[in-house]
Amino acid sequence: MSQNRSFPDDFIWGAATASYQIEGAAAEDGRGPSIWDTFSKTPGKVLHGHTGDIACDHYHRYESDVKLMAELGIRSYRFSLAWPRVFPAKGKVLDNGFDFYKRLLEQLHKHGITPAATIYHWDLPQWIEDEGGWSNRAVVDYYLEFAEKAFRELGDQIPMWITHNEPWCASLLSYGIGEHAPGLRDWRRAYRAAHHLLLSHGEAVKLYRSLGLKGEIGITLNLTPAYSASDSPQDVAAAARQDCFSNRWFLDPLFKGEYPAEFMERVERFCGDLDVVRAGDMEAIATKMDFLGINFYTRSLVADDPNDPLLGVKHLKTDNPVTDMGWEVYPDALYDLLHRLQKDYTDLPIYITENGAASADVVEDGNVHDADRIAYLHQHLEAARKFISEGGNLKGYYLWSLLDNFEWAFGYTKRFGIIYVDYDTQERIPKDSFEWYRQVIAANSLPE
Ligand code: NOJ
Repeated sequence: MSQNRSFPDDFIWGAATASYQIEGAAAEDGRGPSIWDTFSKTPGKVLHGHTGDIACDHYHRYESDVKLMAELGIRSYRFSLAWPRVFPAKGKVLDNGFDFYKRLLEQLHKHGITPAATIYHWDLPQWIEDEGGWSNRAVVDYYLEFAEKAFRELGDQIPMWITHNEPWCASLLSYGIGEHAPGLRDWRRAYRAAHHLLLSHGEAVKLYRSLGLKGEIGITLNLTPAYSASDSPQDVAAAARQDCFSNRWFLDPLFKGEYPAEFMERVERFCGDLDVVRAGDMEAIATKMDFLGINFYTRSLVADDPNDPLLGVKHLKTDNPVTDMGWEVYPDALYDLLHRLQKDYTDLPIYITENGAASADVVEDGNVHDADRIAYLHQHLEAARKFISEGGNLKGYYLWSLLDNFEWAFGYTKRFGIIYVDYDTQERIPKDSFEWYRQVIAANSLPE
């Protein structure tokens, strides 16, 4: 019996990028420094001292990049807006700060590609960090000022808005683990940052609605399901703690209006009273949005470890294949996660706003044969399709990424694109996965 491999007719096929990772033109048209400019120029923070100064030079090559999107056949393109292009210094607003995006939108429109904009994808203006960044509540108003200008200037042309990309990374990874800009190791500030990110999200949803705009607005979370290494109560509890840290810290406030209480106690035992939640905050955070975006790459497998101070967990490896990031390939976790979101949290439409794989691509006779990436995409799309066929409310899929780009602390050493970028010449070479995805989109169906 032949299996149905089709997607719904209105399924949104897309691809995603982010401003700092592709644009370059770091000092053009009045752009000020972001925390990633500062961080990447601090020795030892980014591999080989790579920076986003030039990146994929998309700021100058957007027209030909949009042509490639059109060849690929995507219905929607997800990109982010660079805050420091609009608010480069304290008290300074550039009226032409969104001009690049206006030019980009024109090209997308010409090719019938629907834009999906992320308001914040990690390039916080440095001047805001100098005042405490996301751990200082003042950031919420700064963010709303930026969001309001974006809504007013671009709102009628962009039907899909994402307030934040991966607030877990923008807070815990950036202010706690210290792997991302601003590179701090201060858990109290990290958890305060998480709260302000969530609060600014909820307030932005309210603001969007108050302006009478007709599109959809939501948030994108990076969710990493935590599996227990065994059935022992200790390991099961360890997995539950890991789940609070990676997932519930964001899901519970957004959909239930509260932080997970037991885990909150643990956090406060560890880093002191967070002193961050004020009256009305939790209601604002839980303002109903239009969709949930999820970025999915891998899962974690954990066991109890009393020696680990914050979470009391240790991470285990398996024999499953890993991508070039060292992340385990485990597509069942995507399927499980989608069901869990629908069962425990929401009946809102879900979009996979990122999914993809890094591989050590090489150019051979002008081609890139990235069979591993194709296998990864195929398996994850199959998990998504299965969820939909069981009635799941999954509306679209944005592949990460359109282009190879600046992979944060790994610089240009990790390639996620379905288009290869030669950083010396800025030549674009569509990889085998580009052709594979083009065919999937054209057929609206997965191959055998
Ligand atoms: C998530 C982030 O949103 C994106 O910026 C990053 O490049 C990919 N994951 C891959 O790590």
